[in-house]
Amino acid sequence: MTARIGPHQLVRLLGDWVSGDGALHDQLSVALRRLVHAGALPSGVRLPSERVLATSLNVGRRTVEVAFDSLRFEGIFKSRRGDGTYVSVAGRHAVTRGDDRLSTFALTGRPHSGSFDLRSAALPGLPFVAEEVARLDPGVLAQQVHLHGYQPAGLYELRQAVAEYYDALGLPTTTDQILITSGAQQALRLTAMWLLEPGARVLIEEPSFRGAIDVLRRLGAQLYPVPSGVDGIDADALSDAIGQYRPALIVLQSTVQNPTGSVLEPSRRASVASLAGEAGIPLIDDIAPSDTQFDGGRPRPLAAYGGPVFTLGSTSKAFWGGLRVGWVRADPERITAITLMKSSEDLGTSVLAQIVAERLLQRIEEARAERRAVLAGTWRLLREALNELIPEWRLQPPRGGASLWAQLPDPCATAFAQRAARKGVLVLPGPTFSSVDGLDDHLRLAFAAAPEEVIAGVERLAEAWASFRTRWSARAVVKSA
Ligand SMILES: Cc1ncc(COP(=O)(O)O)c(C=O)c1O
Repeated sequence: MTARIGPHQLVRLLGDWVSGDGALHDQLSVALRRLVHAGALPSGVRLPSERVLATSLNVGRRTVEVAFDSLRFEGIFKSRRGDGTYVSVAGRHAVTRGDDRLSTFALTGRPHSGSFDLRSAALPGLPFVAEEVARLDPGVLAQQVHLHGYQPAGLYELRQAVAEYYDALGLPTTTDQILITSGAQQALRLTAMWLLEPGARVLIEEPSFRGAIDVLRRLGAQLYPVPSGVDGIDADALSDAIGQYRPALIVLQSTVQNPTGSVLEPSRRASVASLAGEAGIPLIDDIAPSDTQFDGGRPRPLAAYGGPVFTLGSTSKAFWGGLRVGWVRADPERITAITLMKSSEDLGTSVLAQIVAERLLQRIEEARAERRAVLAGTWRLLREALNELIPEWRLQPPRGGASLWAQLPDPCATAFAQRAARKGVLVLPGPTFSSVDGLDDHLRLAFAAAPEEVIAGVERLAEAWASFRTRWSARAVVKSA
């Protein structure tokens, strides 16, 4: 079967392809050539048609035609009559007159000056992280330095602090149920690697965190989406998917979902845990963002409802992503097995970072209060601005985190995000969060930046939407005529 790349996926790979200088068709051919040379577009891959790609990039068809023509001329692309355009086998090795421009073009560069970046939902660290580092006890450090420092399962004191963190949430936990990792991202990778064989079937929420989709794909998993909405994953759809696919694993985010910010309803927690438990299917519950919840009471973790649940957590969202400290919570036997994988991967997470993390966890309530105040405030302003400026978008109110999942009237988010980028505001279209390249009727707006930045970005976005919508509607009328 010929490998092909869909238009949304190609647009995602192209990243910030418009650098602001030069003709659009030149910038597009430079970016495409770079993808081929980097191996991101391998030989033999079939590209979307020029018309379809032009729509997704929100440029004129002529722009894509000229870019494709120049790559065909260089031997990088090849077209077969009636059978589309492919990356040619020789393309990757072709040395062309365009190569000298590659180094000056940043594929996923910084936003251009004067633009607003509403893509990243990563929060700045809290000031008291630096305070705790400054207050480190030299005696404690000396004690650790006296030892060799290789501790694959993590520092005992930190494992104990994490166990207490779960006790306080209504999930009794012992120290041997915790493995410390380099962030929740590594926790996910190690756990999934231990659980899955290549080709294994995995059920994953749709939409879901891009980091999870990428990790699971890289492990060779086959992903099957299960819809997730305002109250979290749809338990009936999950039950049907379990029956239909007999998966090896379920991956979800019960508390402060990325991108939607949803929190799984208590009654659904019981259903989801019993569905997984009865079918004997392990479930990974990534609740790394849970400390950023700003609406409603803090729920008991899904693992408290029983079943083979692996709970992932992190200090990244409450305190600072730069610490790179996260963890997995599971049964002691499973933790021992995953610790062996951690050991062969990196021999353990930085002890220094763990000492700081242990001290920070004593201040978790302070961090939660700080995140709640800031995020609830920015969300209120964002909601008011969007309701006034772009009333036709349907907003799914987040209950935590720094991102908003918005539904557009049409499946046009990829094209609109391209348009918005050229108007100086960067957002992520829905397919970024889809395991099947769907959800083009949604986009994610991050509000991790200062409120005034976010609101200025939304004002710019509203201008881009007004001009985009007029053209898009006209195009739809022509197509249906
Ligand atoms: C759901 C989810 N899991 C994991 C991570 C990564 O966390 P960490 O910094 O602990 O690796 C993120 C970060 O955005 C996230 O949103």
